[in-house]
Amino acid sequence: MKFGTKAIHGGVHPDPATGAIMTPIYQTSTYVQEEPGKHKGFEYSRTGNPTRKALEDNLAAIENAKYGLCFGSGLAAIDAVIKMLRPGDEVVSTNDLYGGTYRIFTKIFEPLGIKFKFVDMGSVEEVRNAISSDTKILWAETPTNPMLNIVDIEAMGVLAKEKGLTFCVDNTFATPYLQNPLDLGADIVMHSVTKYLGGHSDVVMGALVTSNDEIAEQLYFIQNSSGAVSGPMDSFLVLRGIKTLHIRMQRHSENGRAIAEFLRSHPEVDKVYWPGFEDHPNHEVAKKQMRDFGGMLSFTVKGNDFARTMKVVSSFKVFSLAESLGGVESLAGHPASMTHAAIPKEEREKTGVLDSLIRLSVGIEDKDDLIEDLDQALRK
Ligand SMILES: Cc1ncc(COP(=O)(O)O)c(C=O)c1O
Repeated sequence: MKFGTKAIHGGVHPDPATGAIMTPIYQTSTYVQEEPGKHKGFEYSRTGNPTRKALEDNLAAIENAKYGLCFGSGLAAIDAVIKMLRPGDEVVSTNDLYGGTYRIFTKIFEPLGIKFKFVDMGSVEEVRNAISSDTKILWAETPTNPMLNIVDIEAMGVLAKEKGLTFCVDNTFATPYLQNPLDLGADIVMHSVTKYLGGHSDVVMGALVTSNDEIAEQLYFIQNSSGAVSGPMDSFLVLRGIKTLHIRMQRHSENGRAIAEFLRSHPEVDKVYWPGFEDHPNHEVAKKQMRDFGGMLSFTVKGNDFARTMKVVSSFKVFSLAESLGGVESLAGHPASMTHAAIPKEEREKTGVLDSLIRLSVGIEDKDDLIEDLDQALRK
């Protein structure tokens, strides 16, 4: 099946009990057994729930994976991956990482004895040099949040294989519509489903997909044992959201391009970070591994002035100033004081997260209204 067909039908079947075309919300914690161990495939909803299972199968289908697992949030999914490790094990990751991922790595798992190294993943050599005999996981995020850097998934996959590492890719920004990391050599793909997959800013959820039997077994064990699963109502909402993922992503990408080009020519804008520009440092890699460039971009306001940037982000009328991304409505964020406040100022400035940086999640509204809104805020 092609992507749009899989988004709608992958892993989803009419309800066997009633023929309902939409997977029902199985709002139940437990399932009656005829005799101990004799049941219809479900025993207890932490372990498995039919609505969640339909979504897990759907996610596996659109990521070309064998297995899918849903969690209560993106961070709960990340938590499950790191719980595969033991004290003394090490993770090598990008230095331009979502702030919450950096926080769970350094504030939750480092004190428990897991080691983390953050390097520039634009350079295979730098990653190779960081790998030690303790390294077990290579963790990449691409495009990165908020600097829109691109990591070469195929090159990292080759390195991970050579060194015997589990290679995990956070595919939240790209979505499976734009890129499929498992096809490029990744072992696990992680999603903050909260974003484009849900797509309507009404659910917090995470997911993992893999085609590796051994990894899947470990992750299902952790999912059930730690218990951070998603509920049936949320699973239903995301199933519905994914049915339009391909259409939404098409429009997000179209609007993203129009706004990146508009901002680049604006006199009040300094730099625009968008991987679709031919002079973006990783444009060739982006073109190779992505089908389009999506709706995420960042830019700096001229003068690198904190107060001025605050004024701009507070003046939007169509864009909403809010955390998160990937919904149908356009959002603007100020990473230094919002999503990335957990990262020390010296650390974040090294990667370009200046006080004047604004991140946009370009929605699927009419692009002329979005452009007009940005223009009036920048001219304030
Ligand atoms: C790239 C990325 N990864 C992971 C997460 C964490 O996901 P959640 O907020 O669903 O826990 C986010 C959230 O913003 C994100 O942007």
